[in-house]
Amino acid sequence: MINEYKNLVVEELNKYFDEYSCNSSYSSKIWEAMRYTTLLEGKRLRAVMCLEVANLFNADIVDVLPCACSLEIMHAYSLIHDDLPCMDNDDLRRGKPTNHKVFGEAVATLAGDALISFGGQILIDKLSKKFSSELVLDIVNDYLKTAGALGIVAGQIADIEAENREIDFENLKYIHKYKTGALFNCAVTMGAKLANIRHEILLKLQKYADNFGVLFQVYDDIIDCTLSTNELGKTAGKDYFSNKLTYVSAFGLPEAKNIFYSLIEKNRDILNELEIKSSVFEDIYNMLISKVKGR
Ligand code: IPE
Ligand code: IPE
Ligand code: MG
Ligand code: MG
Ligand code: MG
Repeated sequence: MINEYKNLVVEELNKYFDEYSCNSSYSSKIWEAMRYTTLLEGKRLRAVMCLEVANLFNADIVDVLPCACSLEIMHAYSLIHDDLPCMDNDDLRRGKPTNHKVFGEAVATLAGDALISFGGQILIDKLSKKFSSELVLDIVNDYLKTAGALGIVAGQIADIEAENREIDFENLKYIHKYKTGALFNCAVTMGAKLANIRHEILLKLQKYADNFGVLFQVYDDIIDCTLSTNELGKTAGKDYFSNKLTYVSAFGLPEAKNIFYSLIEKNRDILNELEIKSSVFEDIYNMLISKVKGR
């Protein structure tokens, strides 16, 4: 199922890039840079979570594809900017040279900017064909909030400012909740809203998504120091050498792993409470656990 979702999303992303880039008056360079990072092989977890929530609550996932694609587009913007020399200064992403290594810093910065706006444009153009203006406005509002200073950017600035500082546990939680959790919250929220679910269930799912965001970033902190550059597709040990505030730097590797496992259990409990059985979510947990176990 995960692979089916992934294939649908990649096919749809390709269509959107073709459709919009041919109407562009500017050189193809910016579209090439936008496509490059977005379409490199990734796990597509934000898109998969959005589609799975919609599917669990009986929406037609074809209607939800614009949301899934907009999430992957926003994710690609965040990756391109995260890798810039003025941010994490990374050379490798998804197993290939980072965007600025291929296209230069100016184009990479602009490609990130253009992706934010591209994702929003797709939501308006595509969702308006099927859903009410009120719902589309609500979804676009979620998208914009997540992309900016009330979402990812809030986490990213806190992450940069925490480098080389003393450990502050509250700040660490904040960083993970926003730099990574905000996008997972948005994914689940969009899927749930398009499936028209009840407000109290939405609130529980958002708690689930926030918790997933934190555990996913704890997982990312762990594998930064346990997997090789080849396995990661990004430079290993980067957090340690950049003096980043992570769950590993704050708690040590064994405790970070305990926290990761206990957050997974917490999320399984939330799903049980909601009487939701999802092999997709279980497959995601098993995939993450298999990378953390025994290292
Ligand atoms: C990388 O996310 C950035 C983080 C929030 C840790 P992913 O690990 O989901 O990256 P891709 O999309 O699979 O490349
Ligand atoms: C992930 O933080 C958050 C965003 C990309 C927004 P990291 O800096 O840990 O992500 P990686 O490890 O570079 O993928
Ligand atoms: Mg970073
Ligand atoms: Mg980084
Ligand atoms: Mg990381």
